[in-house]
Amino acid sequence: MMTSVISAPDHPLPSTQPDVLQTVRVKELSERDRRRMLMHFLALGESDRLLRFGTTLPDELITRYVQKLDFVRDTLFGVYDSDLRLIGVGHLAFAPRDAVPTGADATTKERVAEFGLSVSESARGKGIGTKLFERAAIHCRNADVDTLYMHCLSSNRTMIRIARKAGMQIRRSYGEADAYLKLLPANPSSVMLEAVQEQVARFDYAYKANNRAAMKWLNSYLPGFK
Ligand SMILES: CC(C)(COP(=O)(O)OP(=O)(O)OC[C@H]1O[C@@H](n2cnc3c(N)ncnc32)[C@H](O)[C@@H]1OP(=O)(O)O)[C@@H](O)C(=O)NCCC(=O)NCCS
Repeated sequence: MMTSVISAPDHPLPSTQPDVLQTVRVKELSERDRRRMLMHFLALGESDRLLRFGTTLPDELITRYVQKLDFVRDTLFGVYDSDLRLIGVGHLAFAPRDAVPTGADATTKERVAEFGLSVSESARGKGIGTKLFERAAIHCRNADVDTLYMHCLSSNRTMIRIARKAGMQIRRSYGEADAYLKLLPANPSSVMLEAVQEQVARFDYAYKANNRAAMKWLNSYLPGFK
């Protein structure tokens, strides 16, 4: 198979757009988020579905994909806007190491992880995709997984940019690209970092939910109140 390998940069997982990224909170998703996830995916246009799933999945298959998401086996991450709409979703799927073509960098760990993500069109270019990716990488480290894999079309320049920024090794082949990231083992700061990010994201979610409930309540007494 004809492949070309692009060497990785020497600055793994750098932060970009620091002022914007500080407001991007990535929260682990659970069963209760299934409906919002469905809304997020159904709002993706045809070309985004192609980039995200490798094919222009029709609504029925997207619905089935969301219904079948397994929150015990896999980990899902999301970013909410102030109206609690999911504007970014990342799916970290764990699989036995021989289930994914990990290329030259074979792992001795039992599992590898594959990551797929999408950001709503109106929320792009604000660092949400980068933040979702960084969170997935740190979660893998803490879950004793040292190989993070992504598959995308070679023409997906935004995704290739995120992968290269993260130091991923990218193999291109016949219009498709496989990207791999070797991760360091967990340490106290990686565990602490993920725990803090999750706590802050939960607090942020609770704040937005309370705010929304308060606005609804006010609206019921003072119609038209904004
Ligand atoms: C890929 C995707 C998740 C990126 O989300 P995002 O929130 O816009 O990403 P970010 O804001 O973190 O930006 C990504 C980087 O790509 C860069 N970028 C954006 N468009 C680009 C383009 N056409 N060419 C090259 N780089 C580009 C941005 O400048 C940014 O780099 P920087 O941080 O150095 O400035 C989003 O575009 C998307 O959902 N696409 C459809 C689904 C998809 O492609 N999923 C990935 C395959 S699983």
